[in-house]
Amino acid sequence: MTKTCLQVFSSVEELAAYFTAKLKEILSQSGNTVPISVALSGGSTPKAIFEYIANNDTGIPWNKIQLFWGDERCVSPESTESNYRMAKEHLLKHIPLSTSNIFRIKGEEAPVAEAQRYAETVVKLVPQQNQVPQFDIILLGLGEDGHTASLFPGSTELLQSHQLFEATEHPVTGQKRITATLKLINNAKTIFFLVTGESKAKMVGRILKRKNNWKQLPAAMVQPINGENIWLLDEKAAGQLTNLKH
Ligand code: 6PG
Repeated sequence: MTKTCLQVFSSVEELAAYFTAKLKEILSQSGNTVPISVALSGGSTPKAIFEYIANNDTGIPWNKIQLFWGDERCVSPESTESNYRMAKEHLLKHIPLSTSNIFRIKGEEAPVAEAQRYAETVVKLVPQQNQVPQFDIILLGLGEDGHTASLFPGSTELLQSHQLFEATEHPVTGQKRITATLKLINNAKTIFFLVTGESKAKMVGRILKRKNNWKQLPAAMVQPINGENIWLLDEKAAGQLTNLKH
């Protein structure tokens, strides 16, 4: 049964501070033997959170974290389109996390083979639950069309995939992508949807108020099997949330 929790903040900075505190809470509750696995996403809100963490003395015990990605654009790691590069510039350069704890999706490799290689890496490193690796934390953004990670509306086969990662493409730009599947995402312990800005308000309202075929939207299909779904929004993104059914 999915536990969904919703928090609305008056600024992105407050949202980032809340996320940081939750991350520290999860880290402090974990033992010292197994690292905490965190899968990052691309997008503007994760970027703002990375900047907050980079610019504040957060006291996060980085040596307890192994970093992964939930999706990547199939470009060089130097490209401004790369999710890895975004994280590197805005977070990784500024924190004491050993490169041996950073496991990126290689966007420069052939997508299908890389999706398979990355799935094998995750299987090796992340402890399993229900015979599927269980990330401790996954960060997700939300597209105005209801996509999340690189799971786009209408990708029927991909949304039912039994793999952990798949190669796919952006339906409008045709850009190749590698994405975690719902099978992997929904097995996570804690999922954070990080969503800010007025342009997201309509989609946030549709999903959280369960309207207009909301069930068809990839972001709405994120329903952790045993974990927690935490939506962190700013007031603009939460602009259409009244009379929630949750
Ligand atoms: C990506 C993503 C994607 C993103 C959303 C929201 O690589 O593009 O992981 O799912 O998180 O599109 O992005 P914005 O916050 O920039 O709108």
